[in-house]
Amino acid sequence: MALKWFYVAIVTWTLSANYSCIAEIVRMPQQPSIQMLGLTVKPLNESFSAYVLVFLGPSDTEVEFNGDTLEVTKVDVDEFKALMVNNNDNMDRRITLKSKSKGETISMYPNFNYNLLTKTSFIENTCYVQIEKDEMGERTKYTATVSSFADREDLENLSKYFIAYIRDKSGAIVQLTTRHLNDTENEHVVSYYKYLDTYYSGSKTDSYNEYYAILNYPAIEADGITVQSFGFVLYVSSSDYYGNDMTINRSWYYQIV
Ligand SMILES: *[C@@H]1O[C@H](CO)[C@@H](O)[C@H](O)[C@H]1NC(C)=O
Ligand SMILES: *[C@@H]1O[C@H](CO)[C@@H](O)[C@H](O)[C@H]1NC(C)=O
Ligand SMILES: *[C@@H]1O[C@H](CO)[C@@H](O)[C@H](O)[C@H]1NC(C)=O
Ligand SMILES: *[C@@H]1O[C@H](CO)[C@@H](O)[C@H](O)[C@H]1NC(C)=O
Repeated sequence: MALKWFYVAIVTWTLSANYSCIAEIVRMPQQPSIQMLGLTVKPLNESFSAYVLVFLGPSDTEVEFNGDTLEVTKVDVDEFKALMVNNNDNMDRRITLKSKSKGETISMYPNFNYNLLTKTSFIENTCYVQIEKDEMGERTKYTATVSSFADREDLENLSKYFIAYIRDKSGAIVQLTTRHLNDTENEHVVSYYKYLDTYYSGSKTDSYNEYYAILNYPAIEADGITVQSFGFVLYVSSSDYYGNDMTINRSWYYQIV
Protein backbone atom coordinates (compact mmCIF):
# COMPACT_ATOMS: atom_id res chain seq x y z
CA MET A 1 0.00 0.00 0.00
CA ALA A 2 2.73 2.39 0.98
CA LEU A 3 4.58 1.70 -2.28
CA LYS A 4 1.50 2.42 -4.35
CA TRP A 5 1.09 5.84 -2.76
CA PHE A 6 4.71 6.60 -3.43
CA TYR A 7 4.22 5.85 -7.12
CA VAL A 8 1.16 8.14 -7.35
CA ALA A 9 3.08 10.92 -5.66
CA ILE A 10 5.95 10.64 -8.19
CA VAL A 11 3.60 10.72 -11.18
CA THR A 12 1.73 13.75 -9.85
CA TRP A 13 4.96 15.58 -9.17
CA THR A 14 6.30 14.85 -12.66
CA LEU A 15 3.10 16.05 -14.31
CA SER A 16 2.96 19.26 -12.35
CA ALA A 17 6.63 19.91 -13.03
CA ASN A 18 6.00 19.59 -16.77
CA TYR A 19 3.03 21.94 -16.85
CA SER A 20 3.89 24.41 -14.13
CA CYS A 21 4.02 28.10 -14.95
CA ILE A 22 6.94 30.13 -13.75
CA ALA A 23 5.29 32.91 -11.79
CA GLU A 24 7.09 36.06 -10.81
CA ILE A 25 5.76 39.02 -8.85
CA VAL A 26 6.64 42.11 -10.89
CA ARG A 27 5.03 44.51 -8.42
CA MET A 28 4.09 43.69 -4.83
CA PRO A 29 0.54 44.68 -3.84
CA GLN A 30 0.98 48.30 -2.86
CA GLN A 31 -0.48 51.74 -3.21
CA PRO A 32 1.04 54.17 -5.71
CA SER A 33 4.50 55.39 -4.59
CA ILE A 34 3.63 58.80 -5.99
CA GLN A 35 0.45 60.06 -4.35
CA MET A 36 -1.22 63.43 -4.49
CA LEU A 37 -2.25 64.64 -1.05
CA GLY A 38 -3.74 68.02 -1.88
CA LEU A 39 -4.36 70.33 -4.81
CA THR A 40 -5.36 73.94 -4.21
CA VAL A 41 -6.20 76.60 -6.78
CA LYS A 42 -6.02 80.33 -6.03
CA PRO A 43 -7.06 83.07 -8.44
CA LEU A 44 -4.17 85.62 -8.49
CA ASN A 45 -5.79 88.25 -10.65
CA GLU A 46 -8.08 88.37 -13.68
CA SER A 47 -5.86 86.34 -15.90
CA PHE A 48 -3.62 84.22 -13.69
CA SER A 49 -4.18 81.34 -11.25
CA ALA A 50 -1.83 79.57 -8.90
CA TYR A 51 -1.97 75.85 -8.17
CA VAL A 52 -0.38 74.31 -5.12
CA LEU A 53 0.14 70.58 -5.25
CA VAL A 54 1.35 68.60 -2.24
CA PHE A 55 2.41 65.06 -3.02
CA LEU A 56 4.32 62.06 -1.72
CA GLY A 57 7.00 60.56 -3.89
CA PRO A 58 10.41 58.89 -3.94
CA SER A 59 13.39 61.26 -3.87
CA ASP A 60 13.92 60.92 -7.64
CA THR A 61 10.41 62.20 -8.46
CA GLU A 62 10.56 64.70 -11.33
CA VAL A 63 7.89 67.36 -11.78
CA GLU A 64 6.93 68.89 -15.08
CA PHE A 65 4.38 71.64 -15.72
CA ASN A 66 3.36 72.82 -19.18
CA GLY A 67 2.03 76.14 -17.84
CA ASP A 68 3.99 79.31 -17.06
CA THR A 69 6.03 78.78 -13.87
CA LEU A 70 6.89 75.91 -11.55
CA GLU A 71 8.70 75.87 -8.23
CA VAL A 72 9.18 72.63 -6.28
CA THR A 73 10.20 72.43 -2.63
CA LYS A 74 10.83 69.44 -0.39
CA VAL A 75 8.58 69.49 2.68
CA ASP A 76 9.69 66.24 4.27
CA VAL A 77 11.71 63.12 3.41
CA ASP A 78 9.18 61.97 0.82
CA GLU A 79 6.80 64.93 0.69
CA PHE A 80 6.98 67.74 -1.85
CA LYS A 81 5.16 70.93 -2.65
CA ALA A 82 4.87 72.28 -6.19
CA LEU A 83 3.74 75.86 -6.78
CA MET A 84 2.55 76.55 -10.33
CA VAL A 85 1.35 79.77 -11.89
CA ASN A 86 -0.51 79.81 -15.13
CA ASN A 87 -2.34 82.17 -17.46
CA ASN A 88 -5.96 81.01 -17.52
CA ASP A 89 -5.97 81.20 -21.32
CA ASN A 90 -3.16 78.67 -21.50
CA MET A 91 -5.04 75.40 -21.82
CA ASP A 92 -1.84 73.38 -22.06
CA ARG A 93 -1.36 73.00 -18.31
CA ARG A 94 -0.54 69.37 -17.78
CA ILE A 95 1.23 68.40 -14.56
CA THR A 96 3.44 65.30 -14.68
CA LEU A 97 5.10 63.57 -11.74
CA LYS A 98 7.52 60.82 -12.63
CA SER A 99 9.78 58.45 -10.72
CA LYS A 100 12.18 56.39 -12.79
CA SER A 101 13.20 54.19 -9.85
CA LYS A 102 9.57 53.17 -9.21
CA GLY A 103 8.50 53.15 -12.87
CA GLU A 104 5.50 55.35 -12.00
CA THR A 105 4.11 58.43 -13.71
CA ILE A 106 1.13 60.55 -12.72
CA SER A 107 -0.25 63.07 -15.14
CA MET A 108 -3.20 65.36 -14.68
CA TYR A 109 -4.96 68.37 -16.12
CA PRO A 110 -5.92 70.80 -13.37
CA ASN A 111 -9.07 72.78 -13.77
CA PHE A 112 -10.15 76.06 -12.22
CA ASN A 113 -13.07 75.11 -10.16
CA TYR A 114 -13.61 78.00 -7.81
CA ASN A 115 -16.47 76.07 -6.15
CA LEU A 116 -13.89 73.72 -4.74
CA LEU A 117 -10.67 75.43 -3.79
CA THR A 118 -8.89 72.45 -2.30
CA LYS A 119 -9.06 68.80 -3.21
CA THR A 120 -7.64 66.29 -0.75
CA SER A 121 -9.25 63.06 -1.82
CA PHE A 122 -7.78 61.09 -4.69
CA ILE A 123 -9.44 57.75 -5.36
CA GLU A 124 -6.34 56.23 -6.98
CA ASN A 125 -4.53 56.42 -3.62
CA THR A 126 -6.95 53.82 -2.24
CA CYS A 127 -5.82 51.19 -4.75
CA TYR A 128 -3.36 48.39 -4.15
CA VAL A 129 -1.95 47.17 -7.45
CA GLN A 130 -0.15 43.87 -7.78
CA ILE A 131 1.33 42.63 -11.03
CA GLU A 132 2.33 39.05 -11.66
CA LYS A 133 4.08 37.59 -14.66
CA ASP A 134 3.64 33.96 -15.76
CA GLU A 135 5.57 32.23 -18.50
CA MET A 136 3.08 29.91 -20.20
CA GLY A 137 5.05 28.08 -22.84
CA GLU A 138 5.59 30.60 -25.62
CA ARG A 139 3.25 33.19 -24.15
CA THR A 140 3.78 35.58 -21.30
CA LYS A 141 0.80 36.42 -19.17
CA TYR A 142 0.58 39.45 -16.91
CA THR A 143 -2.12 39.60 -14.26
CA ALA A 144 -2.85 42.86 -12.50
CA THR A 145 -4.85 42.57 -9.32
CA VAL A 146 -6.40 45.75 -8.02
CA SER A 147 -8.10 46.04 -4.67
CA SER A 148 -9.42 49.22 -3.12
CA PHE A 149 -10.69 50.18 0.30
CA ALA A 150 -12.90 52.93 -1.19
CA ASP A 151 -16.70 52.70 -1.17
CA ARG A 152 -18.20 51.00 -4.19
CA GLU A 153 -19.98 54.15 -5.43
CA ASP A 154 -16.74 56.13 -5.33
CA LEU A 155 -15.14 53.73 -7.79
CA GLU A 156 -17.48 54.54 -10.69
CA ASN A 157 -15.15 57.08 -12.38
CA LEU A 158 -12.00 55.03 -11.93
CA SER A 159 -10.89 52.89 -14.88
CA LYS A 160 -8.15 50.31 -14.72
CA TYR A 161 -6.43 48.79 -17.70
CA PHE A 162 -3.22 47.61 -19.31
CA ILE A 163 -2.05 49.87 -22.12
CA ALA A 164 0.45 49.00 -24.83
CA TYR A 165 1.80 50.87 -27.80
CA ILE A 166 2.98 48.54 -30.50
CA ARG A 167 4.66 49.44 -33.74
CA ASP A 168 3.93 47.30 -36.74
CA LYS A 169 6.19 46.63 -39.72
CA SER A 170 4.86 49.66 -41.60
CA GLY A 171 5.87 51.89 -38.68
CA ALA A 172 2.30 52.55 -37.60
CA ILE A 173 1.75 52.79 -33.85
CA VAL A 174 -1.26 50.96 -32.49
CA GLN A 175 -2.62 51.52 -29.00
CA LEU A 176 -4.15 48.52 -27.27
CA THR A 177 -6.02 48.80 -23.99
CA THR A 178 -7.80 46.20 -21.88
CA ARG A 179 -11.28 45.46 -23.15
CA HIS A 180 -14.13 44.12 -21.11
CA LEU A 181 -14.96 40.55 -22.18
CA ASN A 182 -18.56 41.70 -22.79
CA ASP A 183 -17.49 44.46 -25.20
CA THR A 184 -17.91 44.03 -28.91
CA GLU A 185 -14.54 43.64 -30.60
CA ASN A 186 -12.92 46.80 -31.87
CA GLU A 187 -12.32 46.13 -35.59
CA HIS A 188 -9.40 48.50 -35.76
CA VAL A 189 -7.29 46.55 -33.28
CA VAL A 190 -8.71 43.02 -33.39
CA SER A 191 -5.95 41.79 -35.74
CA TYR A 192 -3.37 42.78 -33.11
CA TYR A 193 -4.83 40.56 -30.38
CA LYS A 194 -2.71 37.67 -31.63
CA TYR A 195 0.36 39.64 -30.49
CA LEU A 196 -1.08 41.14 -27.35
CA ASP A 197 -4.50 40.38 -25.96
CA THR A 198 -5.77 42.10 -22.85
CA TYR A 199 -9.13 41.71 -21.14
CA TYR A 200 -11.02 41.62 -17.87
CA SER A 201 -14.38 40.45 -16.65
CA GLY A 202 -16.40 41.57 -13.68
CA SER A 203 -17.64 45.04 -12.92
CA LYS A 204 -15.79 48.35 -12.65
CA THR A 205 -17.11 49.07 -9.17
CA ASP A 206 -16.02 45.74 -7.66
CA SER A 207 -13.54 46.36 -4.88
CA TYR A 208 -11.35 43.57 -6.29
CA ASN A 209 -10.56 43.10 -9.99
CA GLU A 210 -8.19 41.06 -12.11
CA TYR A 211 -6.89 42.23 -15.49
CA TYR A 212 -4.97 40.09 -17.94
CA ALA A 213 -2.51 40.83 -20.74
CA ILE A 214 -1.08 38.02 -22.83
CA LEU A 215 1.94 38.68 -24.99
CA ASN A 216 2.92 36.31 -27.74
CA TYR A 217 6.61 37.11 -28.27
CA PRO A 218 7.26 34.49 -31.00
CA ALA A 219 4.43 36.01 -33.11
CA ILE A 220 5.64 39.53 -32.31
CA GLU A 221 9.15 38.67 -33.49
CA ALA A 222 8.02 36.68 -36.51
CA ASP A 223 5.95 39.60 -37.83
CA GLY A 224 8.49 42.34 -37.14
CA ILE A 225 6.39 44.00 -34.42
CA THR A 226 7.90 45.96 -31.55
CA VAL A 227 6.36 46.69 -28.17
CA GLN A 228 7.19 50.37 -27.63
CA SER A 229 5.73 50.53 -24.14
CA PHE A 230 3.52 48.43 -21.93
CA GLY A 231 2.12 49.19 -18.51
CA PHE A 232 -0.86 49.42 -16.23
CA VAL A 233 -3.06 52.47 -15.66
CA LEU A 234 -5.48 53.81 -13.07
CA TYR A 235 -7.44 56.55 -14.83
CA VAL A 236 -9.91 59.00 -13.34
CA SER A 237 -12.03 61.12 -15.63
CA SER A 238 -14.26 63.97 -14.67
CA SER A 239 -16.65 65.76 -16.93
CA ASP A 240 -18.17 67.59 -13.99
CA TYR A 241 -15.73 70.52 -14.24
CA TYR A 242 -17.50 72.88 -11.88
CA GLY A 243 -18.99 70.46 -9.35
CA ASN A 244 -16.94 67.89 -7.55
CA ASP A 245 -13.56 68.02 -9.10
CA MET A 246 -10.70 70.28 -9.96
CA THR A 247 -8.94 68.02 -12.37
CA ILE A 248 -10.22 67.11 -15.81
CA ASN A 249 -8.53 63.74 -15.76
CA ARG A 250 -5.69 62.04 -13.98
CA SER A 251 -3.77 58.92 -14.74
CA TRP A 252 -1.36 56.84 -12.74
CA TYR A 253 0.85 54.71 -14.97
CA TYR A 254 3.03 51.80 -13.91
CA GLN A 255 5.57 50.93 -16.55
CA ILE A 256 6.33 47.24 -17.19
CA VAL A 257 8.16 47.46 -20.54
C1 LIG B 1 -1.30 88.87 -12.56
O1 LIG B 1 -0.45 87.93 -11.88
C2 LIG B 1 0.64 87.49 -12.64
C3 LIG B 1 1.34 86.38 -11.84
O2 LIG B 1 1.64 86.77 -10.52
C4 LIG B 1 1.56 88.65 -12.95
O3 LIG B 1 2.66 88.20 -13.73
C5 LIG B 1 0.77 89.69 -13.74
O4 LIG B 1 1.57 90.83 -13.96
C6 LIG B 1 -0.49 90.10 -12.96
N1 LIG B 1 -1.29 90.95 -13.82
C7 LIG B 1 -1.89 92.04 -13.35
C8 LIG B 1 -2.70 92.81 -14.36
O5 LIG B 1 -1.78 92.40 -12.21
C1 LIG C 1 -18.38 60.56 -11.64
O1 LIG C 1 -18.49 61.43 -12.75
C2 LIG C 1 -19.77 61.99 -12.91
C3 LIG C 1 -19.76 62.79 -14.20
O2 LIG C 1 -18.63 63.57 -14.32
C4 LIG C 1 -20.08 62.85 -11.69
O3 LIG C 1 -21.38 63.41 -11.80
C5 LIG C 1 -20.01 61.99 -10.42
O4 LIG C 1 -20.19 62.80 -9.29
C6 LIG C 1 -18.67 61.31 -10.35
N1 LIG C 1 -18.65 60.36 -9.24
C7 LIG C 1 -17.73 60.42 -8.28
C8 LIG C 1 -17.86 59.38 -7.22
O5 LIG C 1 -16.83 61.25 -8.26
C1 LIG D 1 -21.48 40.58 -18.95
O1 LIG D 1 -22.46 39.75 -19.56
C2 LIG D 1 -23.08 38.83 -18.65
C3 LIG D 1 -23.98 37.90 -19.43
O2 LIG D 1 -24.72 38.61 -20.40
C4 LIG D 1 -23.88 39.65 -17.59
O3 LIG D 1 -24.47 38.78 -16.67
C5 LIG D 1 -22.90 40.59 -16.87
O4 LIG D 1 -23.62 41.42 -15.95
C6 LIG D 1 -22.14 41.44 -17.86
N1 LIG D 1 -21.13 42.18 -17.11
C7 LIG D 1 -20.91 43.48 -17.30
C8 LIG D 1 -19.88 44.10 -16.42
O5 LIG D 1 -21.49 44.15 -18.13
C1 LIG E 1 -6.81 64.63 -20.29
O1 LIG E 1 -7.53 65.76 -20.74
C2 LIG E 1 -6.78 66.65 -21.57
C3 LIG E 1 -7.60 67.89 -21.80
O2 LIG E 1 -8.91 67.57 -22.21
C4 LIG E 1 -6.38 65.93 -22.85
O3 LIG E 1 -5.62 66.77 -23.68
C5 LIG E 1 -5.52 64.73 -22.45
O4 LIG E 1 -5.19 63.96 -23.59
C6 LIG E 1 -6.26 63.83 -21.46
N1 LIG E 1 -5.32 62.84 -20.99
C7 LIG E 1 -5.60 61.57 -20.96
C8 LIG E 1 -4.56 60.69 -20.40
O5 LIG E 1 -6.68 61.16 -21.33
